[in-house]
Amino acid sequence: MKRILVIHGPNLNLLGKREPEVYGRITLKQINNELRKVAKKNNVTVTIKQSNHEGEIVDLIGKAKKKFSGLLINPAAYTHTSVAIRDAISASQIPTVEVHLSNIYSREEFRQKSLISPVCKGAILGFGIKSYILGLQALIDLLNAK
Ligand code: DQA
Repeated sequence: MKRILVIHGPNLNLLGKREPEVYGRITLKQINNELRKVAKKNNVTVTIKQSNHEGEIVDLIGKAKKKFSGLLINPAAYTHTSVAIRDAISASQIPTVEVHLSNIYSREEFRQKSLISPVCKGAILGFGIKSYILGLQALIDLLNAK
């Protein structure tokens, strides 16, 4: 069975209470439950982590190579700043899909650049929880096509 690592970056633990006008009222727990359902339907396992710490995310990705065949990541604010996370993905060579709840290109200028996208297979953004569902499905399809 294929194993997928899901990483939620900083402040995503606050979903539901955090800027609902931008991110909606959905909680991280609800997102994770939906991801588990998609995984089950597709016969893959998901391991889900959330971290507010850049180094911890780098470590998770660094260790993922041995255990996981794919990575689904919402790097949150680190999307726009983290060369370290980008390099970790690049070094790991794990097929990665980037997701965002909001459309980062329609927001503040500082969000309109992702340092992560160039090292990912693709990105899905702007569809709320659906970005995660579509992203996971795309990653599974990609891994199954290998
Ligand atoms: C986000 C977009 C980022 O700009 C922001 O810092 C987040 C969430 C999203 O899912 O829309 O924390 O990644």
